[in-house]
Amino acid sequence: MPIYRSALLRFAPSGEAIYEQDGLLATAADAHGVQRVVAAGDWSALSAQHAGQGEVIHLPGRLIAPGFVDLHIHYPQTDVIGSPAEGLLPWLENYTFPHETRFSDAGYANEVARFFIDELLRNGVTTAFTFCTSHPGSVDALMGEAHQRRMRMVAGKVLQDRHSPDGVRDQTEQSLIDTESLIQRWHGKGRLGYAITPRFAPTSTDAQLRGAGELAAKYRDVWIQSHVAENLDEIRWVRELFPASRSYLSVYDDFGLMRERSIYAHCIHFDAEDRALMRDRGVAAAVCPTSNLFLGSGYFDFAKADAVGFGYGLASDVGGGTSFSPFRTMLEAYFVGREGQAKQGQSLSPQALWWQHTAGAARAAGLEGTVGNLQPGCEADFVVINPQATPLIARRTSQARNLDELLFALIVLGDDRLIERTQIA
Ligand code: GUN
Ligand code: ZN
Repeated sequence: MPIYRSALLRFAPSGEAIYEQDGLLATAADAHGVQRVVAAGDWSALSAQHAGQGEVIHLPGRLIAPGFVDLHIHYPQTDVIGSPAEGLLPWLENYTFPHETRFSDAGYANEVARFFIDELLRNGVTTAFTFCTSHPGSVDALMGEAHQRRMRMVAGKVLQDRHSPDGVRDQTEQSLIDTESLIQRWHGKGRLGYAITPRFAPTSTDAQLRGAGELAAKYRDVWIQSHVAENLDEIRWVRELFPASRSYLSVYDDFGLMRERSIYAHCIHFDAEDRALMRDRGVAAAVCPTSNLFLGSGYFDFAKADAVGFGYGLASDVGGGTSFSPFRTMLEAYFVGREGQAKQGQSLSPQALWWQHTAGAARAAGLEGTVGNLQPGCEADFVVINPQATPLIARRTSQARNLDELLFALIVLGDDRLIERTQIA
């Protein structure tokens, strides 16, 4: 049973951070060989009762924190990062769809999957809700690699049977057969989970959305992930394609695709009824600030989400998003919160930002108590942060007078250089 001694960050159920300057984290393997937290707290309070129970790994000057949870990312878009466009739809047409056609090649998919997971771990992301492409082999590539690394990863084959070019467009009936067999192959294998993944309403026929909803009803503990209300041109298109639905979000509800364990990316251009529907169905939003700023999509309204009370967490949305680093995502979430012309501006606290990318994201996704935190019982996915990683970060963090100042300095100045080590349970 390893016992770690270093500064320690975790979260109370309220979302408030708990911080020990001299902390103890003890972990032990469960029946499946997964390391779980058995004790977390102050070294002086806990060390006597764990004395002699295992090797003490002392990490002076370091901070142990929960591994980050990325609620929405596309592994096939690793090589699409930084492709500029006038907006979402031309970006999809000119860069993303053509690039995703390459994932019909299993060798290529395997190579990108390996690089992608390396990059997640280098950045301290230990759980990611990941889009593959429409090719079933793209799921096998990612899941196989994640399984080898023993990561808690949730992913799915993209469904897109219309308004998509040759090479990524799938066939309605076969796409649903493939989804069901991928669920059976991967969902619940080790730490893996499957997500039914319609790309977004405009690229699926009614029949494909209906079939996806039927699978979601049949496999209740499988996740659902898609995109919604990201861009104004996209919303106009959805209105034309689905005139019978009250709103873009309602399209998914009308096809049985809104239930717990559903995660919709963006959720920017919502009205009050949409927000209430999110809450009533227990659906979570994946907030993607670097993507929304890069593609000019808009600003997620944190205050209105909180007022209505639906769940959300942070996400990179690579390759619309610009960085794998949770520090960059948290900083840009702060900028999105500050924006005060399109909505009311607010100053999100560093504890809230960090929570939204760890325990808060896990709660929104139905994984509270499993990942995203370091309370007893949680799987011990964690990062070792070096607050002295660069001269400026060392200088700034050494002056921090309290936890908020420390976390803010890390968020504003941090990147992958801060992550000294990523430990998978
Ligand atoms: N909407 C449909 N597909 C995508 C995608 O790949 N990225 C983003 N950001 N939005 C989408
Ligand atoms: Zn996306």
